[in-house]
Amino acid sequence: VRTAIVVVAAGSGTRLGRDEPKAFVEVHGVSILEHALRGVFGAVEPLQVIVVAPAALVARARAIGEHVAGAASAHLTVVAGGDTRQRSVAAGLAVLADGIDQVLVHDAARALAPASLIDRVVHAVRTGGGDGVVPALAMIDTVKRVDGDRVVGAVDRSDLVTVQTPQGFPRAQLLAAYASVADDHTDDAALYAAAGHGILTVPGEPLAFKITTPWDLARAERLVDASDG
Ligand code: CTP
Ligand code: MG
Repeated sequence: VRTAIVVVAAGSGTRLGRDEPKAFVEVHGVSILEHALRGVFGAVEPLQVIVVAPAALVARARAIGEHVAGAASAHLTVVAGGDTRQRSVAAGLAVLADGIDQVLVHDAARALAPASLIDRVVHAVRTGGGDGVVPALAMIDTVKRVDGDRVVGAVDRSDLVTVQTPQGFPRAQLLAAYASVADDHTDDAALYAAAGHGILTVPGEPLAFKITTPWDLARAERLVDASDG
């Protein structure tokens, strides 16, 4: 196994507003974490899978992981996260296995991200010459700059994209970036770029949207319902 994926699932899900941490909230009777791991274990690429869970729920996350992994459970590691996403990723990076030379970082909250997206990112990292890789989608909505409730300018969206996870990086460079960059970055690509590296995009997937709000959860419910037939 040459590739690891760190699946961060240690957030509380404040914007979702449920009693349980977001990764354990169910979509159509299956937890968000389990949905995410179905995609991860469906990848063609053999992966070390590192799940980063809330400290109090590590055992529950391991049970979910083993249920999805089956015979591949030997490649599953579950660790406790930190109080920011970046710290949770760092906790996952601390348990990379020997021989791993590239690392993907993925949000469990992108529960419906397809396995093919993981394989696409793995391939791009392998051929990317040291650049990081992010899935990106063109912006659909017209974008405005505002000051309070007043529109103060138009924004040309032709060179704007929105980015998703999994994001992929060569192992040594990612670890060095995490060791050298202090402040909190919004995603791993921003941290990697802050360390002086380039970032490439690959086509993203609409299904890899992040479940953030109750509206997102309702959308995920409908999508899973439709695919169940
Ligand atoms: N995450 C994490 N550790 C944290 C914060 C976030 O592992 N301390 C993970 C979340 O579990 C999620 C991903 O990072 O899979 C993206 O974060 P987000 O969607 O913001 O999730 P939450 O932080 O849980 O939600 P909120 O910001 O609404 O509280
Ligand atoms: Mg958050």
